[in-house]
Amino acid sequence: MKYKVNGVFFSATGTTKKVVSKLAKDLAENLKSDTYFHDFTQPLNREKSLKFNDKDIVIVGLPVYAGRVPNVLINYLNTIKSDGAKAVAVVLFGNRDYDDALIELKNILKANGFKVIAGGAFVGEHSFSTTLAQGRPDKMDLEKVSRFANQIHSKISSGSGQEVVVPGNESYRPYYKPKDDKGEDVDFRKIKPKTNEDCTDCKLCVSLCPMGSIDYDDVSKLNYICIKCGACIKNCPVNAKYYDDEDYLRHKYELEIELTERKEPEIFL
Ligand SMILES: Cc1cc2nc3c(=O)[nH]c(=O)nc-3n(C[C@H](O)[C@H](O)[C@H](O)COP(=O)(O)O)c2cc1C
Ligand code: SF4
Ligand code: SF4
Repeated sequence: MKYKVNGVFFSATGTTKKVVSKLAKDLAENLKSDTYFHDFTQPLNREKSLKFNDKDIVIVGLPVYAGRVPNVLINYLNTIKSDGAKAVAVVLFGNRDYDDALIELKNILKANGFKVIAGGAFVGEHSFSTTLAQGRPDKMDLEKVSRFANQIHSKISSGSGQEVVVPGNESYRPYYKPKDDKGEDVDFRKIKPKTNEDCTDCKLCVSLCPMGSIDYDDVSKLNYICIKCGACIKNCPVNAKYYDDEDYLRHKYELEIELTERKEPEIFL
């Protein structure tokens, strides 16, 4: 059968995009198939629902937020439907842990009609940091992505459509919560980036914010929620976006000093 390989992903700081793009390209080469990509990072691209069929292999990629599938994406993910398509679930985590994110994504895809035949958890530079898992996915990670593509190809060629088993709790653990200096849970919803006087008003952050939250006329203003995705912070050409919230900065610092040991990608077939 001639398959089409589809890469469908959300990627605020580009690490998920790197892994899904490489996996889709390598798998399509193996299968001599065409590729199609749907990047749903921007709100406009979450207005269109998607439907796949038995000629499709769909690689769905997300970052891990608080050990889970980002909750703001669940409604959209439930509009991606399958009538007989195979799926590969991919999550990117920032060298802490992916906890129940992979099993949650697998279950969402399964509930929407996909046969989930493979899953992978890869490491990406942490959204909060430029030193934690710096530069990842790197060359070694991308070689593992290629090997994963070969293994998926072998599974498909052998005719095995067996559903993958991935680690995690079927009763998902609660969203991972950072602690304040008294050991109490921090309410991250209150934390928002600030803008300093270096801002040149180029509007890049307005076009990148996955929540469409940054006000066009006053880029220091947010009209909607902030998910702390890092897109405006990491991409501002003059580093004008920053956080000054003590709890955020403490959490970032703790992650940076505690998680120096390199975690490796994990794949499941
Ligand atoms: C709100 C938020 C929560 C996060 N929670 C986790 C986590 O629980 N474990 C982890 O290892 N990384 C966590 N990360 C880091 C991202 O999963 C990681 O950096 C990922 O590579 C980002 O993907 P992207 O570049 O496609 O946006 C979190 C990032 C954000 C923004
Ligand atoms: S990307 Fe940076 S410089 Fe450009 S408008 Fe946003 S904050 Fe200002
Ligand atoms: S305002 Fe918040 S949600 Fe929007 S790009 Fe910046 S960090 Fe991400």
